[in-house]
Amino acid sequence: MAGPVHRGSNEREGGENFMKKIRIAVLASGRGTNLQAILDGCREGEIPGDVAVVISDKEQAFALERARKAGVEALYINPKGFSSREEFDMHVADEIEKRKIDLICLAGYMRILSAAFVQRFPLKIMNIHPALLPSFPGLHGQRQAVDYGVRFSGCTVHFVDEGVDTGPVIIQAAVPVFPDDSEETLAQRILKYEHVIYRKAVKFFAEGRIKVEGRKVYIEGVQWLKESEALVNPA
Ligand code: GRF
Repeated sequence: MAGPVHRGSNEREGGENFMKKIRIAVLASGRGTNLQAILDGCREGEIPGDVAVVISDKEQAFALERARKAGVEALYINPKGFSSREEFDMHVADEIEKRKIDLICLAGYMRILSAAFVQRFPLKIMNIHPALLPSFPGLHGQRQAVDYGVRFSGCTVHFVDEGVDTGPVIIQAAVPVFPDDSEETLAQRILKYEHVIYRKAVKFFAEGRIKVEGRKVYIEGVQWLKESEALVNPA
């Protein structure tokens, strides 16, 4: 039986053309190139939204610097100030709620979210993973793909549920893997597409075009790949 239907927060009302901008929180622990892609998408008008806050568990994260440069609030929260993961997560969730956030984007956020955090924002948290899920979940998705010897890997934007990298898939990009690839060369190839698909997924959400039924994600008005466009590697 199909589960409940959820839509993005931007249902178009009564033929009105006005699209309200969504408020986005990005959680990042590192260099923040995916954050940058989302910031750029908002600035260039591709995403009808604004990044309202960037939150990091690492004081030195370059992601915080990117936020400041873009004139976005940069909030460092020290996990050491809390007695448990849940307590830290509830504090982060409170900070997010205070800012009336519509969408939370994990972008290289190196912490596993507690169930209580995920339950507070059902189908409002997205993550980017550097592999074609459900292959190679967890850490080092690119290294796992190289070691396994697959001919394709890629990246996945998905909603976050209570598992690790298990939530409903929104968009994937497939890239070829070559026999002489290293973790680094593959990671570089994948990263370019991470930026492309994360921007797109956030755009679709902000436009209210995403509908979720159980594990299935439907997106209004997209061009699906044609059967003849299947990839073969080696060609
Ligand atoms: C990316 O490879 C992303 O897929 C993974 O962590 C990395 C973050 O990179 N979740 P960046 O900080 O966005 O540059």
